[in-house]
Amino acid sequence: MRFLTSGESHGPALMGILEGLPAGLPISLDYLNAHLRRRQKGHGRGRRMQIETDEVQITAGVRHGHTLGSPIGLLMPNRDWKNWEETMAAGPIEGPVKRVVTVPRPGHADLVGGIKYGHEDLRNVLERASARETAMRVALGTVARRLLEEVGIVIASRVVSIGAISDPTPMDLPVANLNQRVDDSPVRCLGSEAEAEMVAAIDAAKEVGDTLGGIVEIYADGLPIGLGTYSQWDRKLEAAIGEAFLSMNAFKGIELGLGFESARVPGSLAHDELSPGPDPIHSPRRVNYLSNRGGGIVAGMSTGQPLVLRAAMKPIATLMQPLKSVHSLSGEAVEAHIERSDTCAVPAAAVIGESLLALVLAEFVLEKFGGDSLAELLPRVALWRELNPF
Ligand SMILES: Cc1cc2nc3c(=O)[nH]c(=O)nc-3n(C[C@H](O)[C@H](O)[C@H](O)COP(=O)(O)O)c2cc1C
Repeated sequence: MRFLTSGESHGPALMGILEGLPAGLPISLDYLNAHLRRRQKGHGRGRRMQIETDEVQITAGVRHGHTLGSPIGLLMPNRDWKNWEETMAAGPIEGPVKRVVTVPRPGHADLVGGIKYGHEDLRNVLERASARETAMRVALGTVARRLLEEVGIVIASRVVSIGAISDPTPMDLPVANLNQRVDDSPVRCLGSEAEAEMVAAIDAAKEVGDTLGGIVEIYADGLPIGLGTYSQWDRKLEAAIGEAFLSMNAFKGIELGLGFESARVPGSLAHDELSPGPDPIHSPRRVNYLSNRGGGIVAGMSTGQPLVLRAAMKPIATLMQPLKSVHSLSGEAVEAHIERSDTCAVPAAAVIGESLLALVLAEFVLEKFGGDSLAELLPRVALWRELNPF
């Protein structure tokens, strides 16, 4: 399975192609759009998220509600296109180009991208470097999520910190119930005290023209044992997850299970001990894990326990109280460019993270079990689960 996206932030549309999904997977526009709406929510988003509701069109690979096995094409028109038609026109225009950007924002792609591609107008860089692209990744990831649901894998997320505020609430819900609980929270967190503090922190940052990052926690439950392998570097499950998360705008770190904490504790507190399984005579499963410190992965393979990861998002690079910058033409010291922007997008990042994980897990499920149709795939997964229950 593989995918590509294209599209500029203020261009006519985002496009995505997802290839390698089996035929016969039920998929609906309502399902795709519902997950896209989850990405648009969250306290601290800019005006764009409030005025535009992302909706996707299916242009290929699906007929009468089921995938065909051919590449799936998705198109997400830009609802604000009428205001950008001339600025972002593909053809030549008459008169001066509007909304030219000549002052790079520290922490954004503007400066290096402009040098790299030889663009004087930094809009040619920021339009594609913008996290608008992640809307299409959510759409494609939602198709992957549909496949995972068919094989009994659910994915959910929550926000565990925004700026200096952390939510200490332990995650003691079934993964399948988590999103239902946090989707209505303005910051997608479990604890109500932390929720109020996070909202206040975002408001305070906005007040002074600043921005905030945070940490999201993402879970997948129902994974069969043995997705991925230790046998080659690029076929390890956590390697693919790491690549997917570090490919996401503003994500600067990811940890699985205990993560960085495992470097600070002794081995006796870092690993997952085993005990005899509940029914060694009648069940082929002969062991229990006594903990899940590894976060559901060991040596590149899923253990069958819930997958738990955390990803760190840096603060938004566009500040309304702009950072120091340099005019790219005159070389003068000036304040950085201001583009319509979010104060905090951590709640949205959690939803995007779910989609990134869905894309990776779908790829690894298809690699292990294969099949050109769902009818071929499902019995293979069921047989494996019967032989290797968890
Ligand atoms: C959901 C989401 C929304 C974002 N919104 C903005 C934004 O409004 N303004 C901005 O400057 N950066 C925003 N970013 C971050 C930039 O896209 C990102 O920092 C930039 O492309 C530089 O890349 P890097 O941070 O990965 O190095 C957002 C990121 C995400 C994940």
